[in-house]
Amino acid sequence: MSARDRHGDTVRLHVVTGKGGTGKTTVAASLALALAAGGGTVLLVEVEGRQGIARLFGTRPLPYEERPIADAPGGGRVCALAADAESALLEYLEMFYGMRRAGHVLTRFGAVDFATTIAPGMRDVLLTGKATEAVRRRVGERRRGGRNAGGGRYFYDAVVMDAPPTGRIAQFLNVNAEVAGLARVGPVHNHADKVMATLRSAQTSVHFVTVLEEMPAQETVDGIAEIRTAGLNVGSVIVNMVHPGFFDGPVLREVAEGSAETDALMRGLKAAGLESPEETARALAEEMSAHAQRASAESEIRARLDGVDRPRMELPLLGEGVGPEELHVLAEHLREQGL
Ligand SMILES: Nc1ncnc2c1ncn2[C@@H]1O[C@H](COP(=O)(O)OP(=O)(O)O)[C@@H](O)[C@H]1O
Ligand SMILES: [Mg+2]
Repeated sequence: MSARDRHGDTVRLHVVTGKGGTGKTTVAASLALALAAGGGTVLLVEVEGRQGIARLFGTRPLPYEERPIADAPGGGRVCALAADAESALLEYLEMFYGMRRAGHVLTRFGAVDFATTIAPGMRDVLLTGKATEAVRRRVGERRRGGRNAGGGRYFYDAVVMDAPPTGRIAQFLNVNAEVAGLARVGPVHNHADKVMATLRSAQTSVHFVTVLEEMPAQETVDGIAEIRTAGLNVGSVIVNMVHPGFFDGPVLREVAEGSAETDALMRGLKAAGLESPEETARALAEEMSAHAQRASAESEIRARLDGVDRPRMELPLLGEGVGPEELHVLAEHLREQGL
């Protein structure tokens, strides 16, 4: 059975959240490339209307249209879509009611704003609805209401969503309850139920991006608890921008405690032929101890992240920043860690 034909338990919707600035967009894009490697077709969806994906891949702003954006090794392909609630509403009205023109009139009169006011979850369900429709879509299927034409291959092997930040993710993914409460019967209700069924299924997994700092780590721990309470599946914790470590275990402890004393450094530097090594030795000792202290704070944070009992992956801090090339490097790191 090829990856394309798998059903049921395989995760096919990867939702990427995390505190703002920790690298959600970067990690989502790398994850999409990693999943596409080996010949898959993956859709990368952005839902916040920031054109972060286009910036990252160095392309023009993305329209509301699924477009190839990058090739992955082994004949894989990543497509991208910048989703917004208004376009999703128009598409939705057309799919369900053949109402595109009416839809344009409605949006001119602020239908999206109206819908959002009476049901705050409406905007979100339009966006999650778009992503889950792509998850369910089959090859050769006419895109009518996301209905399956039968048992054909999936159109996308996986969908990766660059999702809202940790503080809003549980609400974002759980809006259907709200919408379902508003419309107890009819197509909106059915749509909401269907979206929620995909989000709650084993096909959906929510990944948390963090850096090794107090606040983002705490948000990760809290966010995971919220996602679990909402009955959704938590995937991996992806620690991004990890600084290289210069010392390991015992040496690190020594340095952090300040017992790798300046004297020893001085002797070393003198042996290396330095004239007056005092200054240098002191500066070095200070730097080493700062590094060691940060490293030990980081290992405490790692331990706390291990407490959530989900796989943890790490991505290095890339000195030159992240462009299209670097995304492939990060994707490879994810694959090496058993994505
Ligand atoms: N592993 C990394 N190494 C170096 N820079 C990174 C890394 N990951 C992200 N960045 C940079 O950090 C900034 C924030 O990343 P971004 O993916 O836009 O975060 P978010 O989507 O969470 O706001 C960007 O400038 C990005 O290039
Ligand atoms: Mg972003």
